[in-house]
Amino acid sequence: AASVEVDISSVTEGMSLTVKWRGKPIFIRNRTPKEVDDAKNTALSALKDPIARNANLASDAPATDIDRSAGAGKEKWLIMVGICTHLGCIPLGESGEYGGWFCPCHGSTYDTAGRIRSGPAPENMAIPPYQFVSDTHIKIG
Ligand code: FES
Repeated sequence: AASVEVDISSVTEGMSLTVKWRGKPIFIRNRTPKEVDDAKNTALSALKDPIARNANLASDAPATDIDRSAGAGKEKWLIMVGICTHLGCIPLGESGEYGGWFCPCHGSTYDTAGRIRSGPAPENMAIPPYQFVSDTHIKIG
């Protein structure tokens, strides 16, 4: 199917779930308050890629934490395509110097908003089209 509906009710704070959508891994993370704060407190000028890469927003939306997350009131949710933007490996979660993801292939590191911070990857991990259909279910695609 073109879209997939996911029950996220079991994804408690600090937990992640990976589902497949169009053959791609989608990381669904219920971020801790510290993870959200770390991302919010990062200046855009510190980012390698200042664009949100969020399919739900304008193509030039900035890579603020709110525009990377599920938005106001749902900032704890980070839903993104779990594919390194360098050469397509799958990064490891809760890893790397920025507390987000680490790509074991060539060492790219992503922060707690999935934004590229160091290494050869050129872009933030992509945010797929999705919407909350209820407080506990999202529809991807
Ligand atoms: Fe991730 Fe190269 S594929 S750093």
